[in-house]
Amino acid sequence: MENWSPDSWKNNPILQQPVYPDSAAVRQVETELAKMPPLVFAGEVRSLHQQLAEVTAGKAFLLQGGDCAESFAEFSATNIRDTFKVLLQMAVVMTFAGSCPVVKVARIAGQYAKPRSTGTEVIDGVELPSYRGDIINDIAFNAASREPDPQRLIRAYHQATSTLNLMRAFAQGGFADLHKVHQWNLGFVQQSPLGEKYQHLADQIDDTLAFMEACGISSDSVPQLRETTVYTSHEALLLNYEQALTRQDSLTNRWYDCSAHMLWIGDRTRQLDGAHIEFLRGVENPVGVKVGPSMKPDELISLIDALNPDNLPGRLTLISRMGADNITEILPALVRKVKEEGRDVVWSSDPMHGNTIKASSGYKTRSVNSILQEMKGFFEVHRAEGTYAGGVHFEMTGQNVTECVGGAFQITEEGLADRYHTHCDPRLNADQALELAFLIADTLKQARQR
Ligand code: TRP
Ligand code: MN
Repeated sequence: MENWSPDSWKNNPILQQPVYPDSAAVRQVETELAKMPPLVFAGEVRSLHQQLAEVTAGKAFLLQGGDCAESFAEFSATNIRDTFKVLLQMAVVMTFAGSCPVVKVARIAGQYAKPRSTGTEVIDGVELPSYRGDIINDIAFNAASREPDPQRLIRAYHQATSTLNLMRAFAQGGFADLHKVHQWNLGFVQQSPLGEKYQHLADQIDDTLAFMEACGISSDSVPQLRETTVYTSHEALLLNYEQALTRQDSLTNRWYDCSAHMLWIGDRTRQLDGAHIEFLRGVENPVGVKVGPSMKPDELISLIDALNPDNLPGRLTLISRMGADNITEILPALVRKVKEEGRDVVWSSDPMHGNTIKASSGYKTRSVNSILQEMKGFFEVHRAEGTYAGGVHFEMTGQNVTECVGGAFQITEEGLADRYHTHCDPRLNADQALELAFLIADTLKQARQR
């Protein structure tokens, strides 16, 4: 990689960074972080790259999801476990009902920094810096809380490490064994129609496993039945954190951002000459780019060339976030252009971020209907263009929240106040997430049968 170094992004214009009161303190934290062990190992990153190459080739499907923003306050084993359960449930529904291998990538263990539409926030005439995520400042609206504090980088690093440690234990230690499929169903989901639908599918899996066991295939003899791999990802927004965790692999001499397996660039920071593109073009990790309604086909090709000049399958995932009303208008020209120009990418759908609205009660929300509509639009466009709809990207949680309206429990705008806990955007709860998983599974199955 020519003219690139882990800090070459510092020569480019940068958006969405905090302004710290004491820059010497920031430097000290960066030095400290640079000495900490990496969170992930380059070999794992290469495995994800290979699996995403399978997705590019239409042989697997990408499931990416988790919190909008992780927080220090909500950090607990129960929360991690419940998010993990929902991911497993969605994955197993898609694998079994859709007969398709699923690459599982969580938005977790690093998703702490948030881009904001304005640098400051005004409440009752008081103007303070915007909340930028727990890795930067505190959400409480007072001057001390909103001041960016570099010690939060260290705390986020440690929280990410222990989160990842538990995830690895769950994935490899027996929790993700297909024989446990019933136990991933969360208590509050069991009462919902989706919970029942899931029970039914879990029964079918039990039967299948019993049959295979009679044929001599069991969890003891076949690790694939008892283990899974869940990769980590977050938005690479706070570049001094990413730089501090970027390491040169001793086997290949190449640079890896070891804060997560996969990183993505947001729609707000994807300027071609900007610092975020400059940083990510030099690391070997699979990279995602959010593609919003303002993207032009030629601009997209330039971005692809900047991030994936060798056109390596698996390197680049384009995450479309158009909004339910825009998708069938805007996405076709982009998909067509990428296909015509012969660029190998994964096309994934983020049906959340283009569909955020303000409820009359003042809550930021999303309706499950618009989310479904955007997803359906995404699959339709790819079908019409003869391209592969390769993945989905969700904001969801294992907590029993009321943040998105609609779904099997028909959460209403008035009901949002009951359990609205998000630090940033409204997330799907477990039964809303399951509803989407079943829909995707059906679509995958139909595509397979064609
Ligand atoms: N190892 C396979 C996979 O990860 C099957 C599997 C085991 C699985 N446990 C799982 C699939 C949990 C989904 C969810 O795909
Ligand atoms: Mn979000």
